[in-house]
Amino acid sequence: MNFNLHKVFSFKESFNNDDLKFFVKNGYVVYRGLYDKSKFTEAQKFLLNKYSILKKKFNSKKNKIDSWKLASEISESFENSSFSINMYKSGKLLEVLKKYLGPDICVFNKKCSYIIDPKFKNYSTKLSPHVDGWVGNSVEMLQVNTFITKADKLNSMIFYPGSHLYGLLPVKNRELDKKIKLNIKPIALDKIHEGDVLIFHPLILHGTKISNNNRNFRFSVGDRFKSFEKELTSQESSLGYKVLCAGPINHIKRIIGNDYLLPFRVLGGKAGISAINKDIYDYLD
Ligand SMILES: [Fe+2]
Repeated sequence: MNFNLHKVFSFKESFNNDDLKFFVKNGYVVYRGLYDKSKFTEAQKFLLNKYSILKKKFNSKKNKIDSWKLASEISESFENSSFSINMYKSGKLLEVLKKYLGPDICVFNKKCSYIIDPKFKNYSTKLSPHVDGWVGNSVEMLQVNTFITKADKLNSMIFYPGSHLYGLLPVKNRELDKKIKLNIKPIALDKIHEGDVLIFHPLILHGTKISNNNRNFRFSVGDRFKSFEKELTSQESSLGYKVLCAGPINHIKRIIGNDYLLPFRVLGGKAGISAINKDIYDYLD
């Protein structure tokens, strides 16, 4: 398999697992058409509207703009809205994530909004090359970025393909140790469409594409997904999470109800689960 490093996979193209081969080799992969269009558009409107409101608010202040604070205000309102869960549960995203993570999937709280706005002076949520594993993302977690707007080689993201295969790269104060010569040419993602989904490994070296020639606005949302049946790192525990789907093995555990597997609930009556969990346990009558 020798795909171009700018390859974008459709859901259909992922049937023979070429997307997984690409991911293992390069450490990232881009998909198109995973969300239901109307659910994506609702989420997109919500996010861009929120940004335009906050932009005015922050722009009118004389004090220095805290870009990350503004972005986190957007993320938090999105996270607590129905638009975010509706978008993730729509279309094919979870089907693709199950290939990587198994059937029991959660999304962590504290998502990130990454915004590049050339018309907003002093505003930026750019990051120089780094590895997410340096700050507590476990190797069993996936970083998933959804592009809310288009992106190109001047405002997207850069990746060092294959750098995840070196393990946890040595770092000095959040920067790659200068003594390390990777000999990998970074690539900048290009021709990214609205709604494209980028998945990448927590050990890959990556960053924001920073260019003085960029004239275009770019907005993307970063999420972290994991199997909730895996052990959590301290960062993951402190973030907290929402469950998106549960597999059949987990359904059986839920019916039994207690971790001691004792028949407190199931003997002598109809076994059922709490009504508040029904949206997750959809293999039950
Ligand atoms: Fe990152």
